[in-house]
Amino acid sequence: MADTEGLLPSELIGRKRDGHELSEAQLRALIEGMLSGEVSEAQVAALLMAGVIKGFSVAEAKALTAILWESGETLDLSSLNGPTIDKHSTGGVGDGTTLLVAPLVAAAGGQMVKLSGRGLGHTGGTLDKLEAIPGFDVSLEPEQMLEIAEHVGCVVAAQTDRLVPADRTLYALRDLTGTVESTALIASSVMSKKLAAGASTIVLDVKAGDGAFMPDARQAEQLAELCVEIAQDAGRRCAALVTDMEQPLGRRIGNATEVAEAISLLSGSPRGRLAEVALELATLALSEARPRSGRRDAADDVRDDLVTRWERGEALERLEQMIATQGGDAEVCDDPSSILPSAPVQREVVATAGGTVSAMPARRIGEIVARLGAGRARKGDDIDPAVGVDLDVEVGDEIEAGQRLALVHARSAEDAQRAVQGLKSTIALGEATDRHPIHTRVLRG
Ligand code: URA
Repeated sequence: MADTEGLLPSELIGRKRDGHELSEAQLRALIEGMLSGEVSEAQVAALLMAGVIKGFSVAEAKALTAILWESGETLDLSSLNGPTIDKHSTGGVGDGTTLLVAPLVAAAGGQMVKLSGRGLGHTGGTLDKLEAIPGFDVSLEPEQMLEIAEHVGCVVAAQTDRLVPADRTLYALRDLTGTVESTALIASSVMSKKLAAGASTIVLDVKAGDGAFMPDARQAEQLAELCVEIAQDAGRRCAALVTDMEQPLGRRIGNATEVAEAISLLSGSPRGRLAEVALELATLALSEARPRSGRRDAADDVRDDLVTRWERGEALERLEQMIATQGGDAEVCDDPSSILPSAPVQREVVATAGGTVSAMPARRIGEIVARLGAGRARKGDDIDPAVGVDLDVEVGDEIEAGQRLALVHARSAEDAQRAVQGLKSTIALGEATDRHPIHTRVLRG
């Protein structure tokens, strides 16, 4: 056990309960003690609750990150040519940004080895989306990830069991004990995984608003600031964008339908909220990764270059290569509807009155889509890749009575009817409201 200055686990917990800061060695003794069985889960749960109530300091957040990160392997990306870039989103509804950012960064000469997660509750997950493509394999060994990145410039895979194993144990305990909601615990959990994934530049998309894990914009900014500081402290370049999750980001929600949306966007010019966030994240990542030119318009140059590559179809080409190399049917990029699974029942949601769309709460819409079968209530549940919702409108749009607001893709008529009713009562009409800005703040490391 690490040196605790002679204090027993119960005494360390008592110090946290009384609002004192614990040293890295003391936190290490408790977390590593839990992994080795010398400290009970009940004791660590008490520590976590004391920290959630009294607050963990920035130094404690950095110490926790190091303890988690060092519990497993780190990916070594040093053999890759070009800047290594990673991206993390705190999760949301219709958030298919990875499907756009990874190939876009690759098209511009970056290398993205992206370890992604699965959907849970009202939020979607990139692995579930990609697995909607027949044959697509997300279970890769680190050597395979490097080989694909070397040839394509991007690879998206599941996190291996060997990376940050302590986070899995600690996160499961937090989930059981109501101790997920702590900026320091979330930052250390997220950043330990990003640091272990090995990229030299990390770009973070911290969501704020109804469908976000952290709805309050100020708290989302604090989380973004802490994550950037942790990354910088570990010698990585890092920038964060705080983005709006009051309404779904993309127009499509569901696994196959989000893949189709990404392909459709990459086949044309960037347009709409999802493309804007993706473009901004890729711009931020590449301008952080490149040696500073000192020119104030460097980011504008990067963005212009990305738009040109997007419009020339270079990002779509990378996506196609990535899908083919990971065993998926790459024909999906030419003809998504014939390759992606489709649901047997389609139902329209039609406006009964005209007006201005004043709210489309992301969480509720995510829950409706999850209930159709696209999401999971519990980790490990099966999902249906074909079901989902295509939205025709967004907040601020003027609509007329009889206009289609959304299209539901369902497994049964009963499921479809329930989703149609749910969407009718969720999409609110009212006074014209200000559209929320898509992104509110950029924080640079
Ligand atoms: N996502 C993570 O990876 N960890 C957290 O603590 C919360 C969200």
